[in-house]
Amino acid sequence: MEITVTLGARSYPIVLGSGIAAALPARLRTDFPNSMFGLVTNTTLSALYTPLIARWADELDLTIHCMPDGELYKTVETWSAIFDTFIPAKLERSSVIIALGGGVVGDVAGFAAATYMRGIACVQVPTTLLAMVDSSVGGKTAVDHPAGKNLIGAFHQPTLVWIDTAFLDTLPEREYAAGCAELIKYAFIGGPELFDYFAHHGPTLLTHRRKDLLPDAIFRAASVKAGVVARDETETRGERALLNFGHTFAHALEKYFGFGKLLHGEAVWLGMRCAVELGKLLTAIPEETLPHYETMLHIFPRPELDMVPDPADIIEAMRFDKKVSAGTLNIVVPAAPGFSIVKQGVPEETVKAAIAAGLNS
Ligand SMILES: NC(=O)c1ccc[n+]([C@@H]2O[C@H](COP(=O)([O-])OP(=O)(O)OC[C@H]3O[C@@H](n4cnc5c(N)ncnc54)[C@H](O)[C@@H]3O)[C@@H](O)[C@H]2O)c1
Repeated sequence: MEITVTLGARSYPIVLGSGIAAALPARLRTDFPNSMFGLVTNTTLSALYTPLIARWADELDLTIHCMPDGELYKTVETWSAIFDTFIPAKLERSSVIIALGGGVVGDVAGFAAATYMRGIACVQVPTTLLAMVDSSVGGKTAVDHPAGKNLIGAFHQPTLVWIDTAFLDTLPEREYAAGCAELIKYAFIGGPELFDYFAHHGPTLLTHRRKDLLPDAIFRAASVKAGVVARDETETRGERALLNFGHTFAHALEKYFGFGKLLHGEAVWLGMRCAVELGKLLTAIPEETLPHYETMLHIFPRPELDMVPDPADIIEAMRFDKKVSAGTLNIVVPAAPGFSIVKQGVPEETVKAAIAAGLNS
């Protein structure tokens, strides 16, 4: 299966299938006949996929850089260490960086590709469900700063995205479920057919990791993202903001609980519940479609929270993020199954009520 992200001369394919990782070198030798390659991965993946990486190294002129695992290491230091491997290996402007990993590796390696010799090609090989449906597509690359997530980065589109769903076989259950939240998110913004598709297949995908269904489900989600990125690459026209469905709440919850306690996808799952509650309060959702939303939102097991936060504290976390100004918020809310809109100037009190309902339902 193949999708094109249409961006003129910078258009690129997303190739998707099960068991296609071994075929990547052949594709790269065709696309970049005389290039050297730099692989960025992390300690967990290099241990799990030693034979695959060895095979890639046999078939390509490959220099390997292994970074530590975890969001904690999504730093300027980790980004800089990549150059300490690639500069002595004499990677040049025609070289290509391959990112093998989840969103953390993808973001750091993508930022290294954006900046190495003022920008070289990057191939994203996502290995988590979140990275397959979200972070590997769209060209947002970044590292964190102690003051906040993704504060240092660049837009740098990949040249190729190679999605092999077989990587998901080794992904821990909790990471898989968290990634499912980002997958299901597309139901709220990808049109009524996708909404029905996920309402129907969501529970099976979540509980059984259905190998036969996964490529198709990821293909549908990645197609929505590819279309949004093509129309609003750098988030200047408003449409890309729709990809943040549930995320205003999610970011505040992550901040409140402390990064690392709640996985990003778990926070998104709770954030989507709050967004639907807000849609109800603003009467943005037609009454007769409410049961469809209930079905969709009950697909997921509720992430376990030590305690349910006071909504006022979540608003405080949003305020710190500058998402609240003069007592109102701009926030993505559902408008009909498969469609969401950015609602401007939502009163803080209404958001508080939505948080209370979303976290307690
Ligand atoms: N660039 C974007 O557009 C964008 C979008 C969303 C999220 N992000 C970023 O993505 C990051 C989160 O990504 P994530 O959820 O993939 O987390 P992650 O990259 O930390 O991966 C989660 C864990 O799973 C392990 N792992 C990865 N693939 C595996 C596999 N196949 N088998 C076994 N273990 C595996 C990783 O080593 C890690 O321990 C955040 O930093 C977030 O900011 C970026």
